[in-house]
Order: sequence, then structure tokens, then C-alpha cells
Amino acid sequence: MSNRIGPPKFAWMDKRLQQWDDVQLKRQLRPVQADGMTVIGEDGKPRINFGSNDYLGLAAENYSDSVATSASTDADMPDEASSGEDHSVDSSIRTTLRKGSGSSQLVCGYTEQHARFAAELAAWEQTEAVALYSSGYAACSGVVSALARRGDLILSDAFNHASLIDGCRLSKAERFVYPHCDVAAVAALLQHHRKRFQNVWIITDSVFSMDGDIAPLSDLVDLAIRFDATMIVDEAHATGVLGNDGSGACKALGVKEMVDIRIGTLSKAFGVQGGFVAGPQVVIDYLLNTSRPLIYSTSPSPLTIQIAAQHLHEIQTNAARRYRLAEVSRRLRSKLQAANLLSTLFTALESRIPIHPIRIGSAEKTIAIANQLWDRGFYVPAIRPPTVPEGTSRLRISLSAAHTDSQIDALADELQSLLG
Ligand SMILES: Cc1ncc(COP(=O)(O)O)c(C=O)c1O
Repeated sequence: MSNRIGPPKFAWMDKRLQQWDDVQLKRQLRPVQADGMTVIGEDGKPRINFGSNDYLGLAAENYSDSVATSASTDADMPDEASSGEDHSVDSSIRTTLRKGSGSSQLVCGYTEQHARFAAELAAWEQTEAVALYSSGYAACSGVVSALARRGDLILSDAFNHASLIDGCRLSKAERFVYPHCDVAAVAALLQHHRKRFQNVWIITDSVFSMDGDIAPLSDLVDLAIRFDATMIVDEAHATGVLGNDGSGACKALGVKEMVDIRIGTLSKAFGVQGGFVAGPQVVIDYLLNTSRPLIYSTSPSPLTIQIAAQHLHEIQTNAARRYRLAEVSRRLRSKLQAANLLSTLFTALESRIPIHPIRIGSAEKTIAIANQLWDRGFYVPAIRPPTVPEGTSRLRISLSAAHTDSQIDALADELQSLLG
């Protein structure tokens, strides 16, 4: 029986929460203090953070040292009180940068910062246009639900992220979920069903968030061309990480031009928050007129967009962060492989990916190991159902260019002593 006190009308929730708790599947918040690449728990002890998606170390950098000082000081002060000092930020920002956007992009929440940043993203993505969203989740769900209509067919990878899945659920199109990365299954579905549908959308993550593997994008593109289908690719974990310009897996695999619609997030390698969709102008215009998370939600803060623009510049001009990320990823991967802790084989491109899952199996055991790691100074999240299929609970290690070699080695040693 539950000890919780609550109105009787919510007793069913309490019961369900208890059931999840009994099998270690209850999710709950654990407040931490984040400091660089460490998190400090309630006991005040630091742990090396292997749970963040801050792949390039940009989120961990201290904002107050740079932009915040100049932007907030100048925006808040009357003209005559301003020091007139030249800060590192573009001077136009001082008069136009607002903390919040105040409304949807379609009302008055689309500032000069948004427009400039969208144009810069479009140039980087080599597309005609980009639409901005307040998160990657909003972008993924908002694009799929708007574009795939009644009379259409969606083919969606079984391991796609929840945001794409929710987009499919909101769409009025018919949907087939194909086995993970199974190109033959996609070909068979197209062969059998293409003629019955108006538009066909092949929807996939480029890098899968819980496994760190890459979708067979070249083969899927071939099928899309052969069967007149359209690809929508979510580059959330590849933006800023893969490709010689950092724009993602489509670039790295040479299929960028053939993937009509690409979705990115500003919340992982970009180190801030928000999402975007890159595509032909007509698609972006259609989204502006139909995509509900874009129309009916306040646009990302100009402050966030300004930092994202600085980080885009950093991603474009400083490949060293990307190389360092690949280096630490390979370093950990080779150590885990040597200790027989990685079951899957990876391609050369996949070896650059900073996501390292270690499958444990049961949720109970995974939590127990994550807790042991926590006690020994490492934060590695335990991923359990329903995020991953039953029986495949895992530790999910995320690396950052900001990790040091000794931090990587310490984690590998600890994992080997616990699991080897
Ligand atoms: C593959 C994938 N797509 C989309 C998202 C959503 O991005 P955001 O965190 O910016 O909402 C995530 C985040 O976890 C993700 O892993």
C-alpha cells in the first residue's frame, strides 16, 4: 500500500507509481548542481558527468563571463548610463536583444536575431530555408504531424526518437514501423504499398539516441528515389558532431542533397536549447502555415538564439572540438571493446559518435550498477523501459570534447572492475 497522501481521486496514479517503483521503473527528479563536466549531488560530492548531450562542451562554458555581461548591462541601462565600452558582442544586439521573445514567431516573436540565425543555418545546411522551433522535440513532432496527411504513408524506424513517434501519432497518415535499420523491410513495404498512397515519408533518426548507431541513409535515399518517397531525417545527435562542416550524418555520408527535410536540435552539440528544420522554401512556408508547435508556441528567446548563433560560428570555425570529441569517443570505445563490454560492431563513422550504450538487461541490475558508479564518482544514466525495449536496459555513456583522457580512462577502469 502507498504511504502517499493525496486526494482519493488520484489514488489510481499513486497505485501506478507504486507499481513502477516496485520494479525500479519509476522516474523521478534528482537535483544536481552542474559545474563544467561534473555534477554535484545532494551529498555535496562531485561526479564526472557522463550523462549530458553537451557533445562539444559548449553548454558547460560559463555564459556570465561573456555575452550576459554585455547584453544585460547594455539592455537594462539607459543610454546615458552605458559605459560605451565595446564588448565582444555585435553592437546591434545592445539595442535589439530581448530576454524573451514575448510571442509566437508569427505574431511579434521573430526578431532580427531569429531571421539572421535562420539564414545562417540555411546556408550551413545548404538548403533554401530554415524554420526555428522552441525545441528539437517540437521540431520533430511538428514537422511530421504537419507534412504527413491523410492519404499518405509513413515508414518509421522502430528505434526512432519519441518526438518523431509522437509526430506520427498526431499525423492522419497511415503508418508502418519497420524493424530497426532494416532496408529490405522498407523496400518490401514500398513495393507492396506505394501505389495506394499519395505521398510516402521515410522517417528516421540519423544517429539513434539510445544505441549510437547510424541509419542506412544511402540505401534509404536510393529507395526514396526509386519509389518517389520523401526522406525526413532527424539529425539531433549528429548536428555539430559529424560531417566535415559539422552539419551532420547526411553530410558525412554524402546524401545531404537527397534528403529533402533535415531536423536539428540546438540542445545537444549546440549547447543551448531549440530546434530547427532545414528544407526547400516551399516546405518551410508550408510549416509556417500548418505546424502547430511553431504557430501556437512562443518562439525561442532572442538571448538563446544569440548564443546559438555564436555556437554555430564556433562549430563552423573550430573543428578542433569535433576532432577532440571523435578522439575521446574512439578512446573509450577501444577500451570498452578490449574489456568485452561493447557487443556491437561499429563502422568508422560510428566510432566518432559520443553515445556508448552498455547493455545490462534488467532494470534492477542497471540501476544497481549506475548507483555503484555514482558512489564511486561517476554519473552514468541508467536507461530503462519504456525508453528502450524490455530486457535491454542499459548504461548510456555520453561523451564530450570537454572530457579529459584521464576522466575517460577512470570510467573505463571502473566499468571493467564492476562488469568485466
Ligand atoms: C533523436 C532525438 N531527436 C529529438 C530530440 C529532442 O530534442 P530536444 O531535446 O531539443 O527537444 C532528442 C532529445 O533527446 C533526440 O534524442
